[in-house]
Parts: sequence; structure tokens; C-alpha cells
Amino acid sequence: MGSVRSSNKVVLLAVVVLLAIASVEKFAHGANILCLMAVPSPSHHIWNRVLVDALAAQGHNMTVVSPDIELKPKPNVTYIHLEKTYDTIHEGATAIDFYEMGQSSILESMKIFYSYGTSMCIGILASKGYQTIKNYPSDFKFDLVLYDFSCGPCLLAVYHKFGQPPMIGVTGFNTPPYTTDLIGGHKYYAYVPYYTLDYDTNMNFFQRFYNAFLHWADYFYRNYVFLPETDRIVREHEKTKDLPYLADLDQKMMLMLVNSHHSVDFPEPTPQNMIQVGGLQIIPPKPLAADLDRFIRAGKKGSVLFSLGTNVLSKDLGPNRIKAFLKAFAQMPAYNFLWKFESDLPYDIPPNVMIKKFLPQNDILAHPHIKAFMTHGGLLSTHEATWHGVPMIGIPVIADQYRNVAKSIRAGVSEKISLWDMTTEKIRNTVLKVLETPRYREAMSVRSGLFRDQPETPLERGVWWVEWALRHPNAKTIQSPTLDLGPWKSELYDVKLCLVVAVLFVLYLLRKVSKALFSKSAQSGKSKKKVH
Ligand SMILES: *[C@@H]1O[C@H](CO)[C@@H](O)[C@H](O)[C@H]1NC(C)=O
Ligand SMILES: *[C@@H]1O[C@H](CO)[C@@H](O)[C@H](O)[C@H]1NC(C)=O
Repeated sequence: MGSVRSSNKVVLLAVVVLLAIASVEKFAHGANILCLMAVPSPSHHIWNRVLVDALAAQGHNMTVVSPDIELKPKPNVTYIHLEKTYDTIHEGATAIDFYEMGQSSILESMKIFYSYGTSMCIGILASKGYQTIKNYPSDFKFDLVLYDFSCGPCLLAVYHKFGQPPMIGVTGFNTPPYTTDLIGGHKYYAYVPYYTLDYDTNMNFFQRFYNAFLHWADYFYRNYVFLPETDRIVREHEKTKDLPYLADLDQKMMLMLVNSHHSVDFPEPTPQNMIQVGGLQIIPPKPLAADLDRFIRAGKKGSVLFSLGTNVLSKDLGPNRIKAFLKAFAQMPAYNFLWKFESDLPYDIPPNVMIKKFLPQNDILAHPHIKAFMTHGGLLSTHEATWHGVPMIGIPVIADQYRNVAKSIRAGVSEKISLWDMTTEKIRNTVLKVLETPRYREAMSVRSGLFRDQPETPLERGVWWVEWALRHPNAKTIQSPTLDLGPWKSELYDVKLCLVVAVLFVLYLLRKVSKALFSKSAQSGKSKKKVH
């Protein structure tokens, strides 16, 4: 009897364990994941693609709706092309000029950023790819949605069509000011500067005032102009009544993966469902093509990589700046310069300069012969340079680039060249200073050590959290309560106001009492005098 019972128990236990494993394993491989990657910016694609490919390699079936596609997608990855999106950004009435954006005031550039989101949405809706995903049967089962939320909820009508499966937000754009609107938590404008300001954590009163003002302006512009506009454009296009307000769909996000790490970015409090995977795109370097490797090794004292990233193009620098760079490079013959330049150059190119339309930046920065990186100071570039310990010369143009470069300068790992006032001499002196003063490389190696010293790679962490969401699609415990509470309660404005009112009331009472006492004693003084 006893042994039968205990063997029954063993069987029962085995069944329970198997069931538990099965329920966990159900999605460990082979989930259907829809990726809504609206943002027409190659750097967002570079970042998102690494996560998509890693999830495909885990056996998940990835359907990626995006303005950027791969000619040879990895197995288990299907791209659906939003083919009109870049055209609306770069051409016609909705075109954005990044150099113009670089020269405009902060409030103007805030508006340009949001009009970039609106142009993007017009391009998305005009794309055949948008119809392709809309024509999927509505009962097609997606187990999870990955959504690049950086430029607004234009694609979320698609999310609604598939019955609002669990959703994870992703952004290569650091931790933008509006994350609190999406997943809750707190933003502290007291020590996190607005992304287009080059302030430090430690701001004086006027800086904090201006910083708070910009955050509020952004909040109001986003919530009362940009989001209603996006919603209106999509609603007109969909011609359906059954569509919730798109910005409300934003808030269905279970968690978000953001591109930040304390070694490079600003320390700020993050809610539990904000997962920091800064530098996720940095994967082990592949060997370089033979001509690149030879050129980099040929620099007598080393080589320098020069790239302005993917949004701001080197060819738009204009002839004067381009010639100033070439002349400066010719004056530093001990170094070889590798320049990402998107067109052919109609000038004499010095023998120590190589021009390429495309360069594998992460692989090149990992090369031991690369001694410095001339960069626009975009976040991905800053993270990659830091990871590989390469000091920088920043040439910021737009958006967060000024803030990133300023922070790198304070960390002692970078110098800066101003785009608006550059001469051959300034370029040469600044580049040589970084190349030939050891402290830049030393400080960068400290920063790199902090960035690399993590329990798992940022990519592994990102994949783990996506699979966590697949295992717990209804988990509520990780969500920040602030969205339900609202700012009034979650910032304790009610309690603080109550205290202020209480103090004012006490002061008022004290004044009344002291007035009464004073007039009494004055009166009694007077009446005493009268008696005598
Ligand atoms: C694609 O997914 C399947 C499971 O759905 C998996 O077995 C396979 O390894 C994946 N292929 C690649 C190349 O990652
Ligand atoms: C994988 O995704 C593709 C593209 O969306 C889809 O056509 C295919 O049916 C999916 N496979 C499975 C097994 O769901």
C-alpha cells in the first residue's frame, strides 16, 4: 500500500513538474511576434534589428512592419515594407532638413521632432506595406507585439486589429521624456536635463527652471497637438468607429526596453517595468574586409574613424566644411582617416584618407588600431565608442547629440568641434589633442569598464524580458501604479497642498491671535493711563 501510494505521489509530482515545464516552455520557442517598427531612422533599425534577429534565433517567428528592411532577412524573420515613409520625411512639403533643425531654437526643434512623427505617419498610411498587414486575417494569432514607440502611436490601429495582445515598447532613443505617459513612473526634471539641452545633472536655478519649462512644453505639445493629430490622421484613413484613442493604446504596454546605462547616461529613477538595455546593438565584432583592415593597420600611429551617423549625411556638410576636413587630415600624415561619406567626392583625397559609403561601425571601433572616433555624438555611436574604449571628437548637429557630447566632455572622454565655426586648424588641433593626450583614452577605459561589467549582455537581458512577457502575458504586478493614480496623487500634490494650506491657516490664526492680544494690551495700556 505504502509503496503504491508513494509511487502515485511520484507520478503526480512528475505530471505537475511536466505541466509546469510545458506551460513555461510553451512559448520558450516558436511564439508569433509582431514588430511595429514605425520610426524611419536607420539607427532605430540597427538597434531594433539586433533584438529581432536574436528573438528569431530563439525560434520565434518575427513579422516586422518597418520602413527599413533587410535584403536578406534572417530565417524566421519576415519584413513588411512601409515603403513610402522615407520619401515623406526626405521630400516634398513634409520634408525635414536636419541641418536646418540643428540651427533652430529648442522650441522650434521640438516642433520639428513632432512634425517628423506626423510626416512619418502620413508616409506609413500611404504605404502598400500598411495594407499588407491590415489585410492579414484579424484572427491571425500574434502572441506578442514589439513596438517602437519613439515617434508616436501611428501603427497602433494594427495592434488593435489583432486583439491587443501583450505589448512591449522598445526605443533606441534613450529614455525619452514621455515614457511616464506610457508606463508610468516618475520623471525628475530637477536633475535630468531635457534631451536637447547640454546641461549637467547639477543644474543651477535658472537651468532647472528652463529645463522644467521645456519638459512641460513638450508634454503639452505632445498631448494636445501631436497625439490628437496622429489620432486624427489614422482615424480618417481607417474610416472605422471601432478604434480607441491611439494614445490610450500606448498605455497598454506591459513593459519597455530602453537604450540607457548609468555609465553613459543620466541617472534617473526607473519603474520596474522599464528595462535598461543600453548598448543592446553591440554584438561581438566580425572580422573586417581585407581592404579596411589593411588601411586601418597602415596608419603609422593609428587610425581614426569619422562618421556623422545615418540621419545627418556627410555629403550635406557643404564644400567648405568638407574641404576643411580633408585639409586637416592631410596635415596629420601619421594617422589614417576612414570617413563614411554617402556619395563620390569631387575633390583630391589625401593618401591617408579612405572614403566609404557604408562602414560597419561597431566592428571598426573594436579594431585595436582605431585610436579615436570623430562622431556626431548620437547615442548608439556614444555607446559603441564607450564599449570599445575609443575616445571621441564630437561634432553634434541635432537632438540629443549636444547633450551626449557635453556629457562625454565632462567625463573626460571627448572633445568637441563646432559645426558652425570650424576651420582646418581647429579640426587638426582638436583631433590631435584627443589622439596624443593619454588621459582621454584612460578615462574612456574606465567608462568602458563600467559599461561592460554587467551580469549578462544588454541583448541577453532584452531577450529574457521579452520571453518573460510571453510566459506571463497577464502580469500586472510589475506595472507602475502612477498611471492609475494620476499625477495629483502619485506626486503627492494633494498632500503637499494640504500641508501648505495648513501652514497658511496656522499663520493666519497666529496673526489673528497676536493682533487681538496686541490691541487688547494696547487698549488696556491706554485704559491704565486713563485711570492715572
Ligand atoms: C526558426 O524557428 C524554428 C522554430 O520555430 C527553430 O527551430 C529554428 O532554429 C529557427 N531558425 C533559426 C535559423 O534561427
Ligand atoms: C510566421 O510569420 C509569417 C509572416 O507573418 C506568417 O506568414 C506565417 O504564417 C507565420 N508562421 C506561423 C507558423 O505562424
